[in-house]
Amino acid sequence: MKTNIPKCIGIIMDGNRRWAREKGLSTVAGHEAGYKKLQEVVNWAHELGVKNLIFYAFSSENWNRSPKEVSYIMNLVENALGDYFEKLKEKNIRIRFAGDKKRLPEKLCLKMEEVEKKTSENNDGTVVACISYGGRQEIVSAVNKVIENKNAEITEEAIGSNLDTYGIPDPDIIIRPGGERRLSNFLTWQSIYSEFFFIPTYWPDFSREEFEKIIKEYSERERRFGQ
Ligand code: FPP
Repeated sequence: MKTNIPKCIGIIMDGNRRWAREKGLSTVAGHEAGYKKLQEVVNWAHELGVKNLIFYAFSSENWNRSPKEVSYIMNLVENALGDYFEKLKEKNIRIRFAGDKKRLPEKLCLKMEEVEKKTSENNDGTVVACISYGGRQEIVSAVNKVIENKNAEITEEAIGSNLDTYGIPDPDIIIRPGGERRLSNFLTWQSIYSEFFFIPTYWPDFSREEFEKIIKEYSERERRFGQ
């Protein structure tokens, strides 16, 4: 494969429920399949040398879904904390979370913080899971943190350094499977120069072939950053 490997890819994992419905399966089976796909994509990215991945797992708006669905997704996250993320830890991958932790169950939050801490020295890549995340809310929260210091000036640097993704490169690519062509409050600040790839495939069916094709197409696109 050509060399211009993206430093960071953001992924909106969309289409889980439609995938399940078309197969006559339950909604939660769709999310289970989505979670498996996340794990595969982390492996592919690692093998191809993409160091940073940001997954949109649960948006601020997703709180409006049924209590059953919300609690199933939270359970997936909780299981991942005790099992899958432990595996990533051994692969020297750092785990981070973005989103409004205050809305999450306290026990889950504590576990998330523990995993973030335990993996903070890992340096062979970062996986960010956006949970209870909204891009606008992230910016508002960053601005509030800046103005807590009365003498602070509001600058791009000051806001950027108070975002949940601080230290992670802005996404070179944002992939949205599932057929919709919008960002839906994902990485509002960070996406200004991202290359977008909207594909019809539902997330659980996303293939390695499609992933490699996106990276190849990206490496051939000319990015001018406004110049
Ligand atoms: C969007 O598809 C997907 C979600 C709202 C949930 C995705 C969450 C996971 C895959 C779990 C991730 C787990 C960890 C550990 C980070 P949709 O339900 O909106 O599908 P639809 O567009 O077909 O309705």
